[in-house]
Amino acid sequence: GKKHKVTVVGSGNWGSTISKIVAENTKLYRDLFEPEVQMWVFEEDVVIPSDSKHAAAAGSSPQKLTKIINQYHENVKYLPGVTLPDNLIANPSILDAVKDSTILIFNLPHQFIRNACKQLKGEILPFARGISCIKGVNVSADGVSLFSEWIGEDLDIYVGALSGANIANEIAAEKWSETTIAYDPPTMDNSRAPTPRSTSPSIGTVDLAEIPHKDARGRASKSKLTPIPAEYPPLDHGCLRKLFHRPYFHVQMVSDVAGVSLGGALKNVVALAAGFVEGRGWGDNAKAAVMRIGLMEMVRFGKEFFGETVQTGTFTETSAGVADLITSSSGGRNFRCAKKAIEKGLSVSEVEKQELNGQKLQGTLTAFEVHSFLSTRDRLRDYPLFTAVNDILVGKAQVDDIPSLVSKLDHDE
Ligand code: NAD
Ligand code: 13P
Repeated sequence: GKKHKVTVVGSGNWGSTISKIVAENTKLYRDLFEPEVQMWVFEEDVVIPSDSKHAAAAGSSPQKLTKIINQYHENVKYLPGVTLPDNLIANPSILDAVKDSTILIFNLPHQFIRNACKQLKGEILPFARGISCIKGVNVSADGVSLFSEWIGEDLDIYVGALSGANIANEIAAEKWSETTIAYDPPTMDNSRAPTPRSTSPSIGTVDLAEIPHKDARGRASKSKLTPIPAEYPPLDHGCLRKLFHRPYFHVQMVSDVAGVSLGGALKNVVALAAGFVEGRGWGDNAKAAVMRIGLMEMVRFGKEFFGETVQTGTFTETSAGVADLITSSSGGRNFRCAKKAIEKGLSVSEVEKQELNGQKLQGTLTAFEVHSFLSTRDRLRDYPLFTAVNDILVGKAQVDDIPSLVSKLDHDE
């Protein structure tokens, strides 16, 4: 039979780390996966830093990042000091990278996903499946959507979500962590029905019939899914677990795609608040208060806008919920940049530019998007911490205002 081919769309700090993980596993499970993993790299010219072990050999002139990754097996800009497996291939062409791939792992900052999907539309296998590792939400005039559902509907494929307490650098150094993968595949995917006749010479023997499927909110999905042909190994929880689980990266499989996606997105807003109070010089009690209130607002948001499917336990019991909230509010980039912004009297985006060497924060954009979504619906009142973070970012409130802003709600209840 055929084997699944895996492509990672994105190659930043987390994109490179996830690529390392899956390339280690595709080498191990050759009955399920093609060993070679493609990683799409947004191409740029990079000078290898002088403290890199490759600096002497590489010289000081700029080189293409893909060339550096393929030659030295290291992403010297976004994941320096970590050796990547040699079956991981950096590819500057997004279309070439996804060619023939049945498993697409979306892992890039959420501000760039729309443009990536525009290029991929109609250019991927119709029966490909996706996993979104993106932490953010998509807000439009129609409301709020998850990247898992948004990518799925845009590309007409099914997309699950991976999210957890996963600071990339720790995992790249193979320090133990947990993660949560939500995948609720179309029922026809893993049935071993005989493959119907080909309807497309370019794609081969597949059934291009569309199969009905429910989206992450339990509604009939707008995406037109094509079942995975029977020659491929079933793409079920067991198969995905083999792709992502490592001795240092423990995977819990669940079905609540909306809860897992929302946890990863909303905790970034709370991590900014944690950075603000720490930067103000307040202690651990203040940070714990922000995390408690933030978790309540995350649960409230999930129940109010994704209530058909979201389970409270996803926020309170999984790595994608409370554990990610804690790690992100301790050592995440959103936390660190927010803290420094208050300490130095700068804006968070100024600190992001100065400190992150091209890495991108997700919390600032998410705070603005969530705020505009809630504001349009006249629902800010029940989300005082999310509102306070937005107001501090735009200069309408101070850190000192947080206690009175958030305590109003508790007194009302
Ligand atoms: P990152 O912050 O390292 O971002 C930089 C990436 O963006 C680089 O690969 C760069 O090439 C790319 N880029 C820059 N301009 C671009 C453009 N115009 N078009 C396309 N790509 C462009 O990225 P990351 O840390 O890999 O984050 C990806 C996602 O993973 C985010 O949603 C983030 O929240 C999530 N995440 C990150 C971590 C972490 O610790 N870094 C952990 C878990 C989840
Ligand atoms: P930051 O993007 O704030 O670094 O958060 C990383 C993360 O998602 C940890 O799970």
